[in-house]
Amino acid sequence: MNLPNRTHALAWGFVVLALGGLFACPKAKDEEAPPPLTSENPPPGQDESLYVRKEIHTYAPDSAFITAYRKGVETMQARPASDPTSWLFQGNMHGIPTNDGSDQICSPGAPAPAPGLDDCQHGSYFFLSWHRMYLYYFERILRDASGDPDFALPYWNYEPSDHRAIPAVFRDPTTGNPLYVTERGPGVNEGEDVISDTDATAQLALSRIPFFLPDPDPPANSFGGRNLPAPVHYGSFYGQLERIPHNVIHNDLGGQTGWMAWPECAARDPIFWLHHANIDRLWQVWLDQGGGRANPTDQDMWMNHEFTFYDIGGVEVKMSGKQVLDTATQLRYRYDQPVMPAAQVAGATETAAPKSEEKVSMLAASPKAAGGQKLIGGLNKLKISVPEDARKSLLAAVEEKPVYLVLEGLQQMVPGSTYEAYLNLPSGTDPDPKGPYFVGLIALFGRQAKGDYELPLGDVLRGLVQRDEWKGTFELTFVRERERRSGLKATAEKTTFLHFDRARIEQ
Ligand code: C2O
Repeated sequence: MNLPNRTHALAWGFVVLALGGLFACPKAKDEEAPPPLTSENPPPGQDESLYVRKEIHTYAPDSAFITAYRKGVETMQARPASDPTSWLFQGNMHGIPTNDGSDQICSPGAPAPAPGLDDCQHGSYFFLSWHRMYLYYFERILRDASGDPDFALPYWNYEPSDHRAIPAVFRDPTTGNPLYVTERGPGVNEGEDVISDTDATAQLALSRIPFFLPDPDPPANSFGGRNLPAPVHYGSFYGQLERIPHNVIHNDLGGQTGWMAWPECAARDPIFWLHHANIDRLWQVWLDQGGGRANPTDQDMWMNHEFTFYDIGGVEVKMSGKQVLDTATQLRYRYDQPVMPAAQVAGATETAAPKSEEKVSMLAASPKAAGGQKLIGGLNKLKISVPEDARKSLLAAVEEKPVYLVLEGLQQMVPGSTYEAYLNLPSGTDPDPKGPYFVGLIALFGRQAKGDYELPLGDVLRGLVQRDEWKGTFELTFVRERERRSGLKATAEKTTFLHFDRARIEQ
């Protein structure tokens, strides 16, 4: 069902024509057409207007837009935490620190119990829809507070290499700048490029065709995650978009103790909303790619489950997936750059082959150590040998069947700990995500989710076989991305950043 795609193509044609000053109205058939656009887009004060979410770098720091934006955030921040339109209440809708003595990086802010609090959806196919709804009502409240009837949330596209530092207005420490917070990771407020090339790109996610994948297929072979039977606050079945760039950007901006790395605190940082507007935009970019990409409109639970939010004036409202399929016609907003050139989505990967049809089996596993496997600082090595006959069948099928590394029961002990995984990295060779041994990123968000994490090994393995470098063992190297980028030190930190029960190889 790719009607939403076509609907959009028509709507965009319409936008372009209208902005070009041609007011002929090509009528999209069988659909509610967006309201007429004028050169003042959207027309001031009209609720039926189409708001345009623009890239943050579009705005000069001293522009009227940024002034209104600051005013809106400040107004929300001044409201009491019990007011659903306050900054803190909105943040608490995402997550609330447990205050159990270990979650102390942000204070609970004494939230009185209310429907819709502590409800963010992670690690399932509700991730995209819930966050779209969350942003939609937040944007309405912020628009109202900003006093600018045309206000639309900006987004931050960190993919271009000159946009990797947090935008200037968010790191301006001038007293009274409500967009600045000190609770960020190292280097962020100094304007360093904390986001690596690997973290910034959505290419892997955009290459995924299915919106979701059911068990037993790896959820990261889909764009949006696993179809769970009911919403789960913190699931572990991340789709590829949620892993990269979503999770890694949170980790880059939060470090270990900054708000962004902790789901319980993340939405208190104003940059959260720009990151999520970008993720929401990427959903549209993905749909616009076509090729079978479509929303899960045949999934009753995804379409109909009602989540609770609050509108202007603190009015409690409900919203479900079927109401957020098309941003222009249903939610009256669009992004300034709807289509990413197809060339940018090259490199679709091996991982699409469905396990469910292929019958995957385990070839080998690391011994189940008491206490599991800890990933600490420095280079973490793990060796998995493959028995002789398994090796033969693996090689016989290595061209057709995907090979996976599965980290069983993976959990992030310290938020903000993105790791890189390498296969058979020769000793003396520096880990390099652009090199032939890089398998992928291990990118979780927060500490809650414990679950299996799969990474495809096939491409790297085939390269090893072709270069006659593979001797029948899987020698894995794990290194914390932040540490690798800042230069590995001889004395590695002993902290356990990630933990898993054991690793297995599947084909
Ligand atoms: Cu619900 Cu980026 O977080």
